[in-house]
This record gives sequence, structure tokens and C-alpha cells, in this order.
Amino acid sequence: MAAYEFLEFAHFDGAVVPFSQANVSVATLALQYGLSVFGGIRGYRAPDGSINIFRLRDHFTRFSRSAGLLKIALPGDIDFMMNAALELTRRNAPGSDCYFRPFAYKSDLSLGPSIGHPGGGFTIYMLPLGNYFGGESRGLRVQVSSWRRVADGAIPARGKIGGAYVNSAIAKDEAVINGYDDAIMMNELGKVAEGSAANLFMVRDGVLITPGITSDVLEGITRRSVIELARDMSIPVLERDIDRSELYIADEVFLCGTAAQVAPIEQIDQRVIGDANRPITTQLRSRFESVVRGQDAKFAHWLTRVEIPALVSAD
Ligand SMILES: Cc1ncc(COP(=O)(O)O)c(C=O)c1O
Repeated sequence: MAAYEFLEFAHFDGAVVPFSQANVSVATLALQYGLSVFGGIRGYRAPDGSINIFRLRDHFTRFSRSAGLLKIALPGDIDFMMNAALELTRRNAPGSDCYFRPFAYKSDLSLGPSIGHPGGGFTIYMLPLGNYFGGESRGLRVQVSSWRRVADGAIPARGKIGGAYVNSAIAKDEAVINGYDDAIMMNELGKVAEGSAANLFMVRDGVLITPGITSDVLEGITRRSVIELARDMSIPVLERDIDRSELYIADEVFLCGTAAQVAPIEQIDQRVIGDANRPITTQLRSRFESVVRGQDAKFAHWLTRVEIPALVSAD
């Protein structure tokens, strides 16, 4: 398993501190019961050294809604959290593409597993991040998991809730042990939900299809972006249930998410999906890449540009 190197500073309860000081007690409810919510945001480094953060406001909007689901008090509004991320970016001055992990949690040192406890902690930390899935040379090989995606009636599925990631973690582990790159999880109704940490799209007869947001999927921001880009490119889009057997006969299938970006799938359960051309996935992937790299004027409003102050020389 890859060990990550974190960037030097973190935002921790209102102050910028060295990452090693952004810590909590082992008795924290967040740690005991997964009473936490998080975000995952990408920053793309431009040739001039500035960082373009992708859909920052949308990420903090979802983050704030996830916190609401667990009654976690945040330290301020969305602008406050965005500003904390901007300040941290300037302090960390990333030398490569990077990833932000905002995290809010029940900070009480207590015993009972209730979301009624009042304490709320808030932090953001950062790490350099290139490709989440190995190389770009081949599509992903995935398996349909024997684990079901957590149902909204058990743990709110549309929020990024810490404890719910036990579900992703066991599905991912099973897939990797079996020699696959990732898992596709079905929901409790037996319909396709999503990957372990990414939403899923398939293409059938020129139509882009993805499970609707009431299918126990995370309301992914990349998912929404792909739908908006497809509509802009006159690719028909449908949000509807997907059967497992449709995956096997689909022309194209891909995963998408902040970490995964747009990741084509080559095989599912050892069945080859479509052919290697994947015209719609390829078009969407390259459009997405131009958008995040700041090369698409039409979607430039999805980026928040952070100028990195020049390093002051020590001598
Ligand atoms: C379970 C799950 N589904 C989907 C996604 C994709 O969401 P987004 O595009 O907002 O990153 C993620 C994570 O990032 C995830 O953890």
C-alpha cells in the first residue's frame, strides 16, 4: 500500500499548524465510531506555479451538507472554509498537483455512539497527488463486489461520512486480493451503485447512463461535472437504474471521481468491455483534462486560482 507524504502545514481548528500537530485523542467519538465527514478536492498545478482548485465551493457545499447529516458543527460558513483552504495552499506552496482533505468530526471524548454530542472539530490537510489508479496505459480491471453498497436507510449514502467508508474499504480489499484494481458495488436492490470511491457511467448505443442519485451513491461532484460536460458536447445522458448484466454488454464503462478523475474500465469480472477505442469515454476524459488544466474558457468558472507567493531566498 502506498504511503503518502503529507504537505508541511494543516489547518487545525482555526490555526495553521505543522501537520504533525494536527492530532486528536484516541477517545474521540470520531475515531471510536466514525462520526466524521470529509471531502476530497484536487488542486492542479499550472505551468506558472499557481494552483487551480477544482470546484472548491461545490466541494465545501457538499461537505457542509454531509456535516449537517451528522449534526457536526462547523467553525464557519462555506466562505470561511474556502478561505482556510486558500490560505493553506499559499502556506504549503505545492510543487505538484495536490489533494485537499477537509475533515470535520465529533470531537467529544465520550462513550455513547450518538450524534447528539455537541463537539465539532475541523481540519484541512494536503498531500501531493498524481494518478490515483496506477498507470494510464490500460483500462481498469474490476470485479462486482460480494459486498453491497451501504444503503441510505442504514447510513446516509449521499454524504461523505467517515464510518461509511468501512464499506468501501472491505470491498476494495476484496477486489485487490482477488487481483482486480477496484470493486463495483451493487445496492441493496441489486442494481449497480458505484465503485469503492468513484461513481460509475456506462455507454450503450451512444447514450451515457449513470445510476440516479437515489441509488445509494455518493452525490459525486465529478459525476455532476461529467453530466454537464456531456450535455455541452451533445452526448445524450440518462440517469437510471443499471443492471449487472448491462455492464457486461455495455460499449464503454468508466469510473469517475476526484481521485480517479475519468478512469476507463477495460474488464469487469474478466469480461472485456467494448473495444479499446472507447470514443465517448475518451472525449469526456480529454475534455475533463482540459477543464481542470484551465484550458477550457467555457468551464473556467469551475476553477479557483491560487497564486503561490515566490519563495524568499534564505541568503
Ligand atoms: C464512495 C464515493 N463515490 C464517489 C466519489 C466521487 O465523488 P467526487 O467526484 O465528488 O470526488 C467518491 C469520492 O471521492 C467516493 O468516495
